[in-house]
Amino acid sequence: MCAGQGRDVIGVLSNHPRRADVRALLVEVDPGIVEFARASAARAGLSQIDIVEGDAASSDIYMRSIPADIVLACGVLGNVSDAEVANTVRNLSMLCRPGAAVIWTRHRLEPDLTPKIRQWFVESGFEELSFDAPDNPGRSGIGTARLVAAPVPFQPAFRFFSTFTR
Ligand SMILES: C[S@@+](CC[C@H](N)C(=O)[O-])C[C@H]1O[C@@H](n2cnc3c(N)ncnc32)[C@H](O)[C@@H]1O
Repeated sequence: MCAGQGRDVIGVLSNHPRRADVRALLVEVDPGIVEFARASAARAGLSQIDIVEGDAASSDIYMRSIPADIVLACGVLGNVSDAEVANTVRNLSMLCRPGAAVIWTRHRLEPDLTPKIRQWFVESGFEELSFDAPDNPGRSGIGTARLVAAPVPFQPAFRFFSTFTR
């Protein structure tokens, strides 16, 4: 969701021995960024990456590709309100296959929301596999959580968030 230039998918798959095993959906709202991502995927010969120009906040956009084995919520949770972060985390499993992994990012600038985000994932049926907190200027936080409970049922027209602040 909010895939940007798709570097965390296209960059990883480009030279990966199992690149042919992966199908992916990238959802990005900015047409220029979508064009860039499509050109990168084409250059890498990754024709199975579906790059959609649309609203990642809406559950409907994911219907073509779910349930997913891996959901990337990177560069999203730092751009929506705390309540919408909670809403996203608590409902993300509707996109997941049982056992799926969610990889998420959020800065740790004060007030640091990452402790709550980690707790919300656990309360929503995920176990934490990792949480990295590098001591860089942006104070990144990168979490990986695995779905160990049943996913919440898919809801059409569900909105994970309403306002994305750049
Ligand atoms: C901070 S970047 C993150 C890009 C990438 N996921 C990463 O972690 O490097 C956020 C991206 O989300 C896109 N975006 C913002 N609101 C969106 C929405 N409602 N639906 C889809 N993409 C959105 C922006 O255009 C931008 O490319």
